[in-house]
Formats: sequence, C-alpha cells, structure tokens
Amino acid sequence: LEKIVIIGCGSAYHAALVGKRVIEKLCRIPCQVEIASEFRYSEPLIDEKTLAVFISQSGETADTLASLRLAKWCKAQVLSIVNVKGSAIASESENVIFTRAGREVAVATTKAYSAQLVSLYALAIFIAFNTGKITNEENDSLIKELEALPKKIKETIELSDENMEALAKTLYEKDDIFFIGRLSDYATASEGALKMKEISYKNCQTYPSGELKHGTISLIDEGTPVIAVVGDGRVFSKTLSNISECVARGARPIIITEDNKRDIIKNDYEIITVPGTIREFRSSLLVLPLQLLSYYTAKLCGCDIDRPKNLAKSVTVE
Ligand code: AGP
Repeated sequence: LEKIVIIGCGSAYHAALVGKRVIEKLCRIPCQVEIASEFRYSEPLIDEKTLAVFISQSGETADTLASLRLAKWCKAQVLSIVNVKGSAIASESENVIFTRAGREVAVATTKAYSAQLVSLYALAIFIAFNTGKITNEENDSLIKELEALPKKIKETIELSDENMEALAKTLYEKDDIFFIGRLSDYATASEGALKMKEISYKNCQTYPSGELKHGTISLIDEGTPVIAVVGDGRVFSKTLSNISECVARGARPIIITEDNKRDIIKNDYEIITVPGTIREFRSSLLVLPLQLLSYYTAKLCGCDIDRPKNLAKSVTVE
C-alpha cells in the first residue's frame, strides 16, 4: 500500500480523523481523510496501491456509497467498516469489518462510533504488524491495551455520569458552546460538538485550539463555555495556553483530560477526567463524557433525545 484514504460522513468522518492519527503513527503510511459528499465529486488521486476505507454505521449512506463506487472505478482496494449486515455498502465492498455494535436506536450514534474507533485501531495494528512496522512484542502490548478498553469505558461512564449531569445544568441555558482540541483531541471535540448540536440544538463551534487566535477568539465573551479536550501529552501545554487566552476574555472552561493530568491543570477550572490508556486509544475514553454531557443538556432542554428534529438515522438521499 502506498496510501490509505478513509471516507465517511458525520460521526463516521470524525472516527476517520482519529483513525488517521493511529494509522500514520503505527503504520507510517500516509492516510488522508475525506468527507464522502466531497469525495464523490472530487478527482481523487487513488489507484490499486491505495486502500480506500469506507465507514458507515447504517451501510446505506448515499454519499458514502457513491464514494465507494468511485474508489472501485479508480481500482483502489476497498474495505468497509459497517454495522448493518446486508447493507448496500457491505454488499458492494470486497472486504468488510462488521462493527457488531448491535442495533442502534437513537439517531445520534454513540456505541457504533465507539465500535468504529476500535475497528480502526485493530486495522492499524494489523497493517503495522503485517508490514513489519511493529514487533511481536509491540503487537501484543497494543492488543492487550485494546482488550482493556471495555472495562475502562464502563468505568468512565460510571465516573462521569453524575459530573456531566451537574455540568449540563450550567450549559443548558447557553446559546453558544465552543469545543477545542488538537490532533486526535480535535476529532474528539468535533464529535462531542456534533452530539451536542444534534440532540440539544445548541450552536456549537469546533476549532483546532491553535486556530482560535486566527479569528474565532473574537466570539469569546464573559461566560462563554469552552470545552477543551486535552488528551495528547505532546500538545498539552499548548492547548492549556489557548484555554488561558479564552479565560482572559471571560470564558468558562471545561477540560476533559486523563486522570494523571489533573494536577498539572489550574484547580479553578472545571476538570473531568478519564482513566489512562495509550495515546492511540485515548479518544475512545475522552469522547464518553462529551456524549453524556450532550445527553443531559438535551434532557434539560426538553428535547426528544432519540429522535431529534430534522434528522434521520440513515441518510439515503443526497
Ligand atoms: C451521528 O450522530 C449522526 N447521526 C450522523 O452524523 C451519522 O454519523 C452520519 O449520517 C453517517 O451515517 P452512517 O454512519 O450510517 O453512514
């Protein structure tokens, strides 16, 4: 393989953004991420040495299906990550990873998104091992860490449930909420913001933290909630300094980070922590408090959480 392209819409696109970081780190293969509705009308530079990965919970998303057909026309190797067996995308793909998350009832995806992330981690480990980019020992240790995730996910949900219910009380009357993060944390922040928009109808903006000062910080006022995902240790201090800049303009920060980072952060910030795992898998834990926060905010706003207005579970038309 010379390159990998991952394509999807909405949450599937956000899962792809996380997957890109893990694949590039472990496999050292360039990995590009595309929104399906854009990709299908592009002139992609892909061929038989490209692996095109299509992510879709429903397996019926029209733009993702059209993108899959385009990739096949370009002779790319095709792999789909799909939740629904017998769906159009699964049927038209040479290779499929079924996420087996079970039937997802609510329009806003949660468990299927988590399963997409894990499928991408597993794919990255598989490619890295089979191309000799990681040793036997590294392979075993990654798999061991992956197997530890379900327990940590359960723990995170239990630990953050009450906190997020309390935090939602401070958010539900706000009109605008900002989400920031860098690298994979940006993808997680984007997914958190999408959940909040979908089910609570709040105006949420997401930015890579470093972009704030290129324009958006002008929107931060007294009391504006800024939710910062701060998982990646390499850019930890950078995002913290972006948070300070927001605080100087009156923002109310909420920080989502790992247990072991709590003490480094100023105490007067609202801090929600998740158990530790390796950087590659951290998004799987950091996204959970954000999903819960959206849930409780929507509940306080009196919204129909499972069936938000104007949205369908699968988008089978353009
Ligand atoms: C996620 O909560 C949304 N409902 C939406 O963004 C969804 O992820 C997107 O429409 C893609 O759907 P798919 O995974 O079924 O292709």
